[in-house]
Amino acid sequence: MAASSQMKKRVKRQTSEGTSSSSSVASPSSIRPKPLACRVYIGRIGSPYCAFIALALLFVLCATWNDTTSEGHVPQFYSFDIVNEFPHDPEAFTQGLLYGGNDTLFESTGLYGRSSVRKVDLLSGKVKLSYKMDESLFGEGLTLLGDRLFQVTWLTNIGFTYDQHNLSKMGKFVHPMKDGWGLATDGNVIFGSDGSSKLYQLDPVTWKVIKKMTVSYRDQEIPLLNELEYISGEVWANVWQTDCIARISHDSGNVHGWILLHQLRQNLLDSGHKGIDVLNGIAWDEQNKRLFVTGKLWPKLYEIQVRPLSSPVSGNINELCPIRVNI
Ligand SMILES: *[C@@H]1O[C@H](CO)[C@@H](O)[C@H](O)[C@H]1NC(C)=O
Ligand SMILES: *[C@@H]1O[C@H](CO)[C@@H](O)[C@H](O)[C@H]1NC(C)=O
Repeated sequence: MAASSQMKKRVKRQTSEGTSSSSSVASPSSIRPKPLACRVYIGRIGSPYCAFIALALLFVLCATWNDTTSEGHVPQFYSFDIVNEFPHDPEAFTQGLLYGGNDTLFESTGLYGRSSVRKVDLLSGKVKLSYKMDESLFGEGLTLLGDRLFQVTWLTNIGFTYDQHNLSKMGKFVHPMKDGWGLATDGNVIFGSDGSSKLYQLDPVTWKVIKKMTVSYRDQEIPLLNELEYISGEVWANVWQTDCIARISHDSGNVHGWILLHQLRQNLLDSGHKGIDVLNGIAWDEQNKRLFVTGKLWPKLYEIQVRPLSSPVSGNINELCPIRVNI
């Protein structure tokens, strides 16, 4: 509670500082003469022509402004609203999460001796089908491509594939990342994270690196990229040990948005769930545009809707989402 209200205060203060400094700059537009084109043509063709030029200019300005925001020069901060709460197995050390259609989630869990791949009923949180992994393996990121689930494991380069219908193990693969943390897919390539600031694009057949980006926010590298989800052309990533999701452009590696979810974990702590671990797990229902998030050992899974904070915040990400590298 305290941390979050302090955060809100800081957000407000920064917003108002931003507004006051920009409004104190005198606008030179009032002393500008009429654009030449308009003065010349007004007599001959009349004002509809001017109106057309004005509209065209406005269009160009808007297009440029949109470009700037999507390229990450004006990063956005987002808050959220809870749309629904669902039960979640409090024993599940969630490392990978995805929506499989028909109110079904696929989940990969970690910890030695407790690692699994499971098919979970969204509404009840019940595990419908589960594959228990070998005790020597620590389950990590999970994604679904075609009929197969792909899963990576912690501290190894080994991954496994499973049949999505019956969760039987189909095969094994070796990937080139330093470690196995998160996986996602756009239906063609597999996006991967290894706990560093690298976002990989991997070929799902050969496991060759197609592209490798360094993820950064305002020239600062963002390490500890964890669970991933591909959402409407972006890669969203949990950043380990933070309550924040980074919205990453996979072309540039730029983080152009941060979703601040501090209140979710805080609410669980406040209602007595002291044993919970970090926020981890993002799932996207593309068909119904539903976004789900949960955490390791969380008793709940939330459907949330993100909304931009009313004014862009020139936030200090080191304060909003402190990243603890030396653990
Ligand atoms: C959807 O899930 C329900 C309940 O688990 C199941 O009975 C039904 O067969 C599923 N439908 C499809 C198309 O998989
Ligand atoms: C799982 O399904 C696949 C095909 O989808 C099949 O080849 C395999 O035998 C099934 N495994 C089990 C244990 O039923």
